[in-house]
Amino acid sequence: MFKKRIDYTKGVLDPKILDKNPFDVLSLWISEAIDSALIEEANAINLSTIGDDGYPRSRIVLLKDLSKKGLTFFTNFNSVKGRSIKYNDKVCLSFFWGPLQRQIIIKGKAKKISNDLSEEYFYSRPRKSQIAAIISPQSEIIPDRNFIDERFRITEKKYEGKRIPMPKHWGGIIVSPSEIEFWQGRADRLHDRICFNLINNHWKSSRLAP
Ligand SMILES: Cc1cc2nc3c(=O)[nH]c(=O)nc-3n(C[C@H](O)[C@H](O)[C@H](O)COP(=O)(O)O)c2cc1C
Repeated sequence: MFKKRIDYTKGVLDPKILDKNPFDVLSLWISEAIDSALIEEANAINLSTIGDDGYPRSRIVLLKDLSKKGLTFFTNFNSVKGRSIKYNDKVCLSFFWGPLQRQIIIKGKAKKISNDLSEEYFYSRPRKSQIAAIISPQSEIIPDRNFIDERFRITEKKYEGKRIPMPKHWGGIIVSPSEIEFWQGRADRLHDRICFNLINNHWKSSRLAP
């Protein structure tokens, strides 16, 4: 058994958030996590998708943009997650920030962003990351490490001094939330949970039992 037990006493969910727009709370919590010296990658999110085998699968991706339209990350559309989203656009995102004793769980629908917006981000990345996006058949079985290192080397040489074309199979995916839950750890496992549900285009807030 894992015996370590910590008590959650770092914060309280202000009941005033029940009357707020969940995007404002989301944006505030993300900036507080980013400002925390104890959190290295506050924008790391767990993304769960459902595959055509009916199983959910989760993995970490990096949140790159947040707006009232949704949360955007970038990936290879041919990857397992890319194919799963094509099959079923309903996804779940979650943040966990241990040092703040906070969790956010978001349910929503995912779709590709425009090619122009994807390109804007693609060309803001370091050149080597652009090459990695071209050469990695993400989620496919490869023979060995050398396979990927060689492809990288050859492609880097091929595009020396030239603009690297953004691959068609790569770009941004935006998740438009229909449910956002904020969780703040409290003492004695009596945590605070406030959940927002989008109903007829209006956010309805409720408090959930811990
Ligand atoms: C901290 C961290 C950040 C990551 N960021 C991304 C990302 O932004 N996009 C991405 O496609 N994969 C990212 N990955 C890799 C994914 O977790 C995963 O291995 C990859 O996308 C393949 O997933 P899939 O086979 O389920 O599609 C990240 C992994 C970690 C641990």
